[in-house]
Amino acid sequence: MRDTYLDYNRPAMTEEEAAAAADAVRSLWITRGPRVEAFEAALSQYFGGARVVALNSCTAALHLALIASGVGPGDEVVTTPLTFAASVNVILHVGATPVLADVDPNTGCIDPGAVRAAVTPRTRAVLPVDLAGHPADWDALAALAGEHGLTLVEDAAHAIATEYHERRIGSFPWMAAFSFYATKNLATGEGGALVVPDAAAEERLRVLGLHGMSKNAWTRYTQAGHWRYDIVEPGYKYNMTDVQAALGLVQLARLPALQARRAAIAARMNRAFGADPALQIPYVAPRVVPAWHLYAIRLVPGALTISRDQFIEKLRAANIGTAVHFIPISHMTYYRERFGWRPGMFPHADAYFEGEISLPLYPSMTDRDVDDVIEAVLGISERHRS
Ligand SMILES: Cc1ncc(COP(=O)(O)O)c(C=O)c1O
Repeated sequence: MRDTYLDYNRPAMTEEEAAAAADAVRSLWITRGPRVEAFEAALSQYFGGARVVALNSCTAALHLALIASGVGPGDEVVTTPLTFAASVNVILHVGATPVLADVDPNTGCIDPGAVRAAVTPRTRAVLPVDLAGHPADWDALAALAGEHGLTLVEDAAHAIATEYHERRIGSFPWMAAFSFYATKNLATGEGGALVVPDAAAEERLRVLGLHGMSKNAWTRYTQAGHWRYDIVEPGYKYNMTDVQAALGLVQLARLPALQARRAAIAARMNRAFGADPALQIPYVAPRVVPAWHLYAIRLVPGALTISRDQFIEKLRAANIGTAVHFIPISHMTYYRERFGWRPGMFPHADAYFEGEISLPLYPSMTDRDVDDVIEAVLGISERHRS
C-alpha cells in the first residue's frame, strides 16, 4: 500500500504556466486584453476555424448559449440526469423548464431515443453532455434536432480534445460550451469558452458577456480607444481575464502531450481492469477518441459483497483519492421538490451512478502512482468477490 495519499486530481501546472501568468500580471493587463484575444484565436484554430468567445466559466457559456438561442419562459429544454447542476441551472436561469431524458447505459450520455420520447410541442432545445469526455451520440441527436426544429447546445465541459467521427468536438455546426475549471484537461483555474457557428450570434454573445456594453475595456482604455460606450441590452459579467488566458495559451500548446499521457494511463488501467469480472472498464464507441477527462470504472452489479460506497472507503484507506460522476440531478432536493423527479425515474442513470467510481487520471501521475491505483482496486475487488 502506498504511504502517501494520492490526490484524486492535480492540475497540470508547470513553471511555464506560472511564468506566463506572471508576465500577464507584469503587463498590467489583468482583465480581458490581448492575451484573451490570442487565446480565442488559438482555440479557433484548434477547433478548425470556429468562432470562439472566451468566458469565465462553462456555466456562463451555457447560459449565454441558451439566451442566444432564444430559449425562455414557456420553453422546454431536454437534458441528462447524469450531469453537474450547472447544465440544469442555466435552463432555469433563462426561465425555461428542464426535462430529463435517461442515458445510454454504455456511455452514460443522453440516449437519443429517450430524447425523442421527451419531445413535446414546447421543446425548444436539447442540452447533451459529453460525459467523462466521451461524446454523446451526435449523429442521432443532430438528426432528431433537424426533424423537430430543435437547437442543440452542447455541454462540452469534459470534451476538449474529444473526437467524434474523425472531427474534434467544437468543430460541429452548433454551440458547444467548454470548461477550463481547475480539474479539467485544459485548466485556467476558472474559465470557459463558447464555440459559436454564426457571426451575428457571436457579436451578440460578446456584448452579453460584458454587461451588454458596446465596447470592452481593451477598446476603451488603450490610446487608440475612446471613453464613450453604450449599453444595448442588460448583460452579464462573464468575461475571461488575461491572467486566465495566459494559463490557457500554455495549456493549449501542451494539450497534445497532456492528452497522450492521459490516453496512456487509461490504456494501462484498461489492460489491468479488463480481465476482472467485477469491474466494467469505460466503454468507447466506434470512431470515437475520448478525451479521458475522467476514468470511470463501474462495479458489476452483484459481483462484490461490498457496496460502491464501501469500495470508495477502502480506496481512501489505501491512500487513493476518488470521486463520483455524477449524483443524478433527479436525486437532488431542489429539483425533486420543484419537478417531482425521484431516484428510480431514470433507471439507466441511476444504475450508472450506483456503480461508478472516478479513479485518479491526470498527466502528472507517475507510472508508480498508476500502478498503486491498479493494485489497490484489484486487491479490494479480489478480497470482496461474491
Ligand atoms: C458536465 C459539466 N457541465 C458544466 C460544468 C460547469 O463548468 P464550470 O465550472 O466551468 O462552470 C461542469 C463543471 O465541472 C460539468 O462537469
